[in-house]
Amino acid sequence: MPSLIALSRFGSMPTLHRICRGGSSREVHLGEEKLIFFSAENLTDQPIVGHATFNVTPETTGLYFKKIQCFCFDDERLDAHQKVDMAVDFFVDAALAEDTNAQDVSAITLSYTFFRSTEADKAKDLSRFVASADPDPRRGQELFAERCAACHALDRNKAGPLLGGVFGRNAGSIPGYNYSAALRASGLTWATDNLDRWLSDPREFVPGARMPIKTLDPMMRRDIIAYLQDESRQASAKPPVTSVAQHAP
Ligand code: HEC
Repeated sequence: MPSLIALSRFGSMPTLHRICRGGSSREVHLGEEKLIFFSAENLTDQPIVGHATFNVTPETTGLYFKKIQCFCFDDERLDAHQKVDMAVDFFVDAALAEDTNAQDVSAITLSYTFFRSTEADKAKDLSRFVASADPDPRRGQELFAERCAACHALDRNKAGPLLGGVFGRNAGSIPGYNYSAALRASGLTWATDNLDRWLSDPREFVPGARMPIKTLDPMMRRDIIAYLQDESRQASAKPPVTSVAQHAP
């Protein structure tokens, strides 16, 4: 089975958005997670709230196109004259190779069409996709719940070690957690830059490490790290727990 070409294209919202990067294509291998970007720009003087619908062609491939992260789930707000690059994190299920109806597929086209929304109040702000925007720890907390909490908690070990106070901590140092030898011997002290590399690809950064997931989107990593940093700061600002002395009346 040859690798597939994913074409990214945008349907435009007439007169409102200019959509860039039309027809850019990427080679993707079946089963491999990829990150692609769609650009949108609001050419008007008004904020625009819209939602996107997506379309995958040929139709036989739609079943196998799996989105991990996408801007298409919610209403989104784009401020006046703002331009953003929005990430879509996806993979094409390897089962496509076995589907006899899809044997001659060599290209998959993913396209989005934006529609104006009536429910402006609930819209998310697309500025989170702007690379120069300030890190957003609140979004980081939501992402943590979605992407990390299955294996990590702040206050106890789960499948992964506890992450409360992780900033400034030596890698592999939580007592009672069974780390890989690789992470324990890594000599890392967790800070913004090495957390960013760890989250993008743990096993490439520390060969032999056991954390299995990658977070490909740099803006997601930025916000998750901001959340962990804020949380670590607050944790160290709290007074240490001391035993309370009992006084006789
Ligand atoms: C499927 C389970 C899983 C998920 C999901 C996961 N992790 Fe992990 N994580 C692990 C495991 C297992 C380790 C220990 C790795 C080792 O010992 O090599 C780890 C280790 C870590 C460490 C090192 C901690 C230390 O004490 O040195 C950090 C930091 C971390 N993970 C952050 C995250 C963040 C942030 C996310 C969400 C984006 C995440 N992890 C998602 C399983 C996971």
